[in-house]
This record gives sequence, structure tokens and C-alpha cells, in this order.
Amino acid sequence: MSPSSSGTSRVSESLLRMQPLNIVLAGPPGAGKSAVGRLLGERLNREFVDTDTLVERMAGKPIHQIFEEQGEPAFRQMEIEACRQVAEPADRVIACGGGALMDAGSRILMEAGGTLVCLTGEPEVLLARLGKDGSRPLLAGASPSERLQDLLEARKDTYDSIPAQVDTTSLSVEQVADRLAELPLAKRTVRMTASRPRPGYEVLLGEELISNLSALLEQAKLLPPYVVVSDSNVAPLYEEIIRATLECSFITVPAGENHKSQETLYQLYTTFLDSGVDRSSTVVALGGGVVLDLAGFAAATYMRGIRWAALPTTLLAVVDASLGGKVGINLAEGKNLIGAFHPPGVVLADLSTLATLPEVEARTGLAEMIKAALIGDADLFTSMESGPTWIGRSWIHRAIQLKLTIVDEDPQESGRREALNLGHTFAHALEATSRYRLPHGQAVAIGLLGATRLASALDRCESTLEDRVQEVLLRFGLPVRFSGLDTDRILDAMKQDKKRKQGRSRFVIPIRPGRVESGIEAPEALIRDVVDELREGTP
Ligand SMILES: NC(=O)c1ccc[n+]([C@@H]2O[C@H](COP(=O)([O-])OP(=O)(O)OC[C@H]3O[C@@H](n4cnc5c(N)ncnc54)[C@H](O)[C@@H]3O)[C@@H](O)[C@H]2O)c1
Repeated sequence: MSPSSSGTSRVSESLLRMQPLNIVLAGPPGAGKSAVGRLLGERLNREFVDTDTLVERMAGKPIHQIFEEQGEPAFRQMEIEACRQVAEPADRVIACGGGALMDAGSRILMEAGGTLVCLTGEPEVLLARLGKDGSRPLLAGASPSERLQDLLEARKDTYDSIPAQVDTTSLSVEQVADRLAELPLAKRTVRMTASRPRPGYEVLLGEELISNLSALLEQAKLLPPYVVVSDSNVAPLYEEIIRATLECSFITVPAGENHKSQETLYQLYTTFLDSGVDRSSTVVALGGGVVLDLAGFAAATYMRGIRWAALPTTLLAVVDASLGGKVGINLAEGKNLIGAFHPPGVVLADLSTLATLPEVEARTGLAEMIKAALIGDADLFTSMESGPTWIGRSWIHRAIQLKLTIVDEDPQESGRREALNLGHTFAHALEATSRYRLPHGQAVAIGLLGATRLASALDRCESTLEDRVQEVLLRFGLPVRFSGLDTDRILDAMKQDKKRKQGRSRFVIPIRPGRVESGIEAPEALIRDVVDELREGTP
């Protein structure tokens, strides 16, 4: 257990956008999006962007002239392009043209990279604010009041569907900006609460959490003495930063699934004893799912259980392994065979740590996020189908929330939580048959398609689902076929799965995006067909 300098750092920038979410202001003309946005940008020290200004710059002429010379469709096309240019999360305040989010693609992009807020107002007030502003082509003409009513009617569904709404009718620009600055969306760190397993804990997702570790642990009532456990890839990246903020002992375990073992666990116990860790101590687990499971299990069992904090540094650990309170280690006979429910006192998901994540690890997390969308978030699935090909920061937030909701319904994994196993019966068997040469994320991707094919063969899912799942996986560069593995061995490996009941494999199958069914049994011949169809070379 010694520090190692073998960091496998590689920024998976093509997939992950670690910048803080934008604040995107939408709403009708006269609601004050531009004036409020500019002021809010100044207050929060964020860049302010107005999509109308971008369009004017693009066209080299004012909007009313674009309307006159090229017509509304040309303007809308430029607006879509403007949204595309600024949607990526970059800590901006964006004022969106009033009709920009009527375009479904622009809305999906803006939601992936930001938090939307709709500024509203009584029509008379909006109209009074607009005054004689002749630059509004949609309101030009004999009766601006009627035109505004028509426009509000046409856009009603779009505006109403934005969850955060601020009525600006009786507020000044300064007051609206004040209000927005106080909303959680203006904070760079999102706080979520997990109420189960009891006593519950907070999940913080955001920036600069590690550099403020000492204060955040104290806030969560996790008190010193602290012992940080990390692995040989992650420790060299963060030991110095952590030591600068936290008085602690620091233990480095070798990286990799092989070390989620009894041997490493016993070494941890011994090092805890040598470092004077006692019942009042706090274990701080910093790393991917392996470190969190291992150090969390050490905390669950050392001196009958001590408190711990989870600091996930892989996407999979952020959206999955750090949540739900399950901790454990592997045995030679199988994965996660020894374990406990021992929730952390806090989860601090510092997204800046994902900057060094190798691409293959980012894709593993992504496969789990597609799984989450299929299980319980149809909108997230649609965003993944037609939105950006980078991972929206807000998607991470939604995937976390979904897992927390499922755990909340079934903290001890006796029912609903089984859904989280979607795709994993196939995935575990493929991983085991490949002797773990097939990375987990790739196995999950193929497994998700396997579960969907099974649902389709059983005539249980929407007819287009198989194509849709395959398209999403391919869109994000995930595999949908395996090669070089023997079907009999894969079926044998399925029979070893610890989630079998009474000797039969039970599957979770998707019915449509956002809905799955668990505990599904299928004839072996059918499962064999599905496995064969997942082989490379099969259409
Ligand atoms: N407890 C649960 O509910 C739960 C849920 C899902 C998965 N898991 C467990 O999680 C484990 C898999 O987790 P994982 O995918 O995070 O694997 P991992 O912990 O092995 O991390 C993957 C690799 O990335 C490296 N790494 C981690 N963070 C890094 C960073 N920021 N920069 C560079 N390299 C970094 C690690 O050293 C390792 O080599 C499995 O053991 C699985 O059983 C647990």
C-alpha cells in the first residue's frame, strides 16, 4: 500500500463537459430576458450571451431587417445555429430569443448544458415595457396587443413546460436579477438529498468541492480524525490538494477491480489500526466505484462501523456507485459477494475530477446513464437520442436523481431497485466469459441491447425500441456486438449470476423509454438466440 505515480490521465473532453451549467432565460418579449441576463451575468461574474445579438452578428443586420429581407424561416434557422453555438455548459447567462425554445432540438441542447428559467409577466405589462419598440417584427402592425396575445397563446405550452418560472409583472430588472441570483440554479453546486437508507445524506454535485473539503465534511458533521483512502491512479492527482485543505492520514491502495478484495481490506484494517483510526474517525473514500465499495465496506465493518464520506472520481461512481449505500468486496468466487448497506455521511461529486478520466471509463459511466434513462427518464432518453453527442451536465444531475428515487422506493433492494440490473445479466456474463477483457461499460452497452432484444422477442416492448436503443448506443460510440466469445460459455456464466432465483435467470426488460419490468423469465432457447444475435457480423 504505497503511493504510485502511475496516473492513467487522459481527458475525455470529447464526451464530458465539466464547465458549470449555464442559466438560460426564456420567456415572452417584454419579460426582460436581455436586461435581466446582462445584470445577472455581472452579479454572478458570468459571461452574458443574447441569442438575438448572435443572430444579428451572424446575419450582419438587425433582426427586423432579416425578417423583411429573408423572412421568419431564415431567422429561425439562424436562431437554431445561435443556440447550437452557446448551449454547451460554460458558466454563461444566456438570454434566449422568445421563440427559440419552440424548436425541440434547441430546447434539448439548452437543457443539456444549462438550467432553464422562464420569465413571465401580465400581457399589459409586457406590452407597456415594449412600448413603441418597432424592432420587434412579430409585434409590428395595427394591433400589437392582439399580436402579443396570439404569440403568448402559440407559445404557451413551451413556456409552461419550463419548471422554473419567475413572474416579473411587479418587479424591476434589479429585483428579478436578485431573485434569480438566489435560486439554486445560480449556484455552481447542486445539492440533492438522499433520504434512504436512513438516516439519509446529502449529495453535492459541482465544482471546487475537493478544495473545500474540510468545511464540507464539517457541514455534514463528519468530524476528524480523517483518513483518506484512494487508489494508485487517483491519489497522485489529489493528495497534495487534499492535504492542503485537510489534516488527515492518506492511504493509497493499488488501482483495479482485483484489489476490491479480502487481502486489500485486511491491509486497510491494519493500516487503520496503525494510523490510530478509532470510532470517532471519518473515512474519506476518493476514487471510482472500487475505492468507494472497498473503503465504504472497511468503514462499515471496522470497529462495528464508523462514518465515511464518498468522493466519486469516475462518471460511473458519480451516477451510480456512490449512491444507495451499498458497499462491499469481491471473493474469488464472484463479484460483490461480501457486503453491507452503510450509507456515507455525504457524497461530494466534484466534477472537475472527471477531467482526467480515461475515455473508456467515461463511456462506462455513459452506458449506465443510458440505462438510467431507459429505466425511468423518457425525456433524458430523448435528449440522448437527439441532443448533443457530449454528456450534458444536466444529464448527470438527472441520472443521480433517478437512482436516488429508486433507492428511496426500495432501500434494501427487495423490489424496485432490481430495475437497476437492466442489461447487467447479459453484461456480467459477457465480462466473465471474456475474463474481464471486455470493459464493463462496453458489456453494459451490449447487455442493454440484449435486454431490449429479449423484450422484443417476448413481444413486450414498443416495436421501435430495439432500433432506438441501438441508435443511442452507436451515437455515443458504444458497442452493440461482441466477438470471439462462445455462446455456451456465456449461457453458463449467466447461470452463475448471483441474482438468479431458484436456479433461473431473471431479466429486467425495457418496455419503452422510462419504463422497465423486472423478474422476467425466458426459455433458454430464446436467450440463446438473443446472445447469438449480439455476435459481431449479425445484422
Ligand atoms: N456500490 C454500488 O452501488 C455500486 C454500483 C455500481 C458499481 N459498483 C462497483 O463500482 C466498481 C466500478 O467502478 P468504476 O467504474 O468507477 O471503476 P474503478 O474504481 O476501477 O475506476 C476505473 C479506473 O479509473 C481510475 N480513475 C478513477 N478516477 C479517475 C480520475 N478522476 N482520473 C483518472 N483515473 C481515474 C481508477 O484508478 C481505475 O483505474 C465495480 O467494482 C462495481 O462493482 C458499485
